[in-house]
Amino acid sequence: MGAQPIHEIAREKLKPLYEGSGGPSLNFLMDLIAKPTSTAWYWEDHAEAVASAWFTHVGDEAELIDIRVAENKRRMGLAAALLRFALEALMGNGLTVCRLEVRQSNQAARKLYESLGFEVTGRRPNYYRVQEGREDAILMAVDIKAIPKL
Ligand SMILES: CC(C)(COP(=O)(O)OP(=O)(O)OC[C@H]1O[C@@H](n2cnc3c(N)ncnc32)[C@H](O)[C@@H]1OP(=O)(O)O)[C@@H](O)C(=O)NCCC(=O)NCCS
Repeated sequence: MGAQPIHEIAREKLKPLYEGSGGPSLNFLMDLIAKPTSTAWYWEDHAEAVASAWFTHVGDEAELIDIRVAENKRRMGLAAALLRFALEALMGNGLTVCRLEVRQSNQAARKLYESLGFEVTGRRPNYYRVQEGREDAILMAVDIKAIPKL
């Protein structure tokens, strides 16, 4: 149990997390981490992947590309724990800022990021397609070393 780095060997374990879900596909994310400018971790519980978080990095800035938790494991603190673990590891690798984009309507994710100290830094109007029209992307960022208890 705990956070594990994602490598190709974890692909099968991660499939259930990405089946039928919105957001980036597992194939896209696995291609991303084949590059040296990306890092990702998953949370393992009884040999199952129950959460994952994927980052790219440029210079001293990281970008959170995706985070998700299995539907039956939500609201148990897993995303917060995995994000804290990941940000601490990224800080250890010299990264100082983490940025992300989130759908305006994604209240769960926005609250999660706010709870860790992320702040809104901007907005991309009509960035995401939705069933009926488009919605804004909210841009957020955090100074990693300012996160309490990292
Ligand atoms: C967003 C997501 C990753 C949160 O995962 P989680 O493990 O349930 O989150 P946590 O239990 O760690 O929650 C930490 C805090 O985030 C906030 N939060 C999480 N889910 C929330 C919800 N549904 N409604 C309101 N606040 C929520 C709360 O502040 C929560 O703290 P609390 O439980 O003490 O109140 C999860 O809902 C998910 O996988 N969603 C689908 C994928 C997604 O939208 N990813 C984000 C892409 S930008």
